[in-house]
Amino acid sequence: MTEKKFYFFANWKMYLDFDESNILANGLAEELKNKSRSYEMTVFPSALALQTVTQVLRDLNIDTGIQNGYWVDKGGYTGEISFSMAQNIGCRFALIGHSERRHQFKESNHDVRMKMENVINNTKLVPVLCVGETQKERDDGKTEEIIEAQLRSAYDGVNWDEKREIIIAYEPVWAIGTGNACDAKEAQSQHERIKAIVKELLPGQSLSVLYGGSVSPENAENYLKEKDIDGVLVGGASAKMDSWLKILAIAEKISKKYV
Ligand code: 13P
Repeated sequence: MTEKKFYFFANWKMYLDFDESNILANGLAEELKNKSRSYEMTVFPSALALQTVTQVLRDLNIDTGIQNGYWVDKGGYTGEISFSMAQNIGCRFALIGHSERRHQFKESNHDVRMKMENVINNTKLVPVLCVGETQKERDDGKTEEIIEAQLRSAYDGVNWDEKREIIIAYEPVWAIGTGNACDAKEAQSQHERIKAIVKELLPGQSLSVLYGGSVSPENAENYLKEKDIDGVLVGGASAKMDSWLKILAIAEKISKKYV
C-alpha cells in the first residue's frame, strides 16, 4: 500500500470565544483520547485561546497553530503577536497569508514574504502558506498567474532548512465560507501545478498541499481521493463538534487505506 500522510487542519477563525474554544477542545480531547490516529490533526484557535487549547490537546499529540502573526519577535507593535511567542507556548504551525488576511486586511505578497522569513529564520514553526484566487481573478482567467505569484514571492530564495516540512493550503477565495466548494478534479489540477512550482523553488523538500474552501463531511472524501491532495484545511465545519468528528471519521478511514 502507498504510504501517504494526511493532514486535517481545523481553522477556528474568529468563530469561537475563549470559553467556547476551551469547551470544544476539551470535548475533542474526551472523544479522541485512547484512540490511535494515523493522520496529522492541528487546530488553529483564536490567539486568545491558543495557550489553553494547546495545553488541552498536547497530551493527545494534537498540534496547534497560530492563525496569523507579526514578522518582528518583540517590540512596540500594539495589538500584534509574534510567531516566536506562539512557539513559546507550544504551537507547531503558523498559517501565513490566509485569504481573509490578504483580502479583508489587505496583506500583500510582500507582507506574506516578511512573515515567511520571520517564521523560517527565527522559529521552528512549520509555516502553512495559503494561496488562492478570487472569483474575479478566476473569471479573468488569471488563476494560475495569481497562484504562481503568491508562491514565488513567498518561497523564492528563502533559507529553507531541509528538515522543515513545506505545507501549502490551496484555498480558492470564492469557495471559502460560501458552500460553493471547488470541484475535486479542478483542485487536483491546481495542486499538481502548485507542487511543480514549489519543487522548482525548493527542490528536494517534503511537500504537502491541502485543500480548503467549504469542506464538509459530505464532500471531504472526494478531495482526499485525489493524488495531489494531502489533506484539508477546514473553517466552519471544524468549529462544530459534530461536523468535525464526521470529518475525522473520514480521516481515519482514508488514512488506514494508506498506512
Ligand atoms: P470554510 O471551510 O468555512 O469554507 O473556510 C475555509 C478556510 O478558510 C480555512 O482556512
